[in-house]
Amino acid sequence: MTVEVAGAFTGRTALVTGAGRGIGRAVALGLADTGADLILLARSAQQLQATRTALAERGAGRGRVTVIVADLGDQEQRAQAVAVALARGQVQILVNNAATVEPLGATAEVPASDLRWAFEVNVIAPVALATAVLPGMIDAGWGRIVNVSSGIVAHPEAMVRGNAYAATKAALEAHTLNLAAELHGTGVTANVYRPGRVDTAMQEWIRGQDPERIGADLHERFTCFATSDELITPERTAASLLARLGGVQNGAVWDVDDTGGAMDG
Ligand SMILES: NC(=O)c1ccc[n+]([C@@H]2O[C@H](COP(=O)([O-])OP(=O)(O)OC[C@H]3O[C@@H](n4cnc5c(N)ncnc54)[C@H](OP(=O)(O)O)[C@@H]3O)[C@@H](O)[C@H]2O)c1
Repeated sequence: MTVEVAGAFTGRTALVTGAGRGIGRAVALGLADTGADLILLARSAQQLQATRTALAERGAGRGRVTVIVADLGDQEQRAQAVAVALARGQVQILVNNAATVEPLGATAEVPASDLRWAFEVNVIAPVALATAVLPGMIDAGWGRIVNVSSGIVAHPEAMVRGNAYAATKAALEAHTLNLAAELHGTGVTANVYRPGRVDTAMQEWIRGQDPERIGADLHERFTCFATSDELITPERTAASLLARLGGVQNGAVWDVDDTGGAMDG
């Protein structure tokens, strides 16, 4: 495992999606500690602003932080976001962290449009962002792409009524590992990160859903994570991701504890 030190990413620009809260915010704060310039992306301007404030309090200069408010599920907004990010300069680090856990519920009752939306946010958007930043990374001979997945890929049966989430994360992992093989020898790496069970709004949101809609078992499972103290902090999982980001490993599935196959949401 490569351990990052302060200043390791000085002069590098990192685009972190879903940087307004949870794991994305913790990754952004951790990246700032390594000296990276940051582009923060999510839909909620207020939450992104809170991340920007936290960065400023940490000593990351204002000029080094760019906020982009965009819905990654919307093709037009995504294209505009890419244009704004690239107008600022090359992106050397891409952390595709934003995702939706919806739609939850009995698979036969999920409208195709909801399923399409989940694929748009969880798969098409990360691929589109990678496609946009890759030429610059390859030209420079250095780049890091990390796609935040889930332990659900190792155990799809563990999240009944979370079919879209399991399918999208599996697709994201397949994309990442295939891309990594394509990138072999370029200096650009692509890896998957499974963050473990993390105490974030996503977990809280699932616990807050009607058990009848999402299924009593799924509801119970996520309630149990919280009541049995199984959730880790966003900071802990961010540190685990960042510890590997500077290394040369390519095409790996990183797990928060390197236990491989941890079951999470
Ligand atoms: N928490 C866990 O236990 C856990 C376990 C396994 C995997 N993960 C994965 O870890 C990643 C982060 O999860 P989290 O728990 O930190 O979730 P979270 O607290 O819900 O944060 C998700 C972030 O993504 C953004 N986002 C969601 N939809 C978006 C869209 N359409 N366009 C732009 N931004 C969007 C959200 O901001 P806006 O809503 O403002 O857009 C938010 O900043 C996800 O990929 C998730 O699947 C989490």
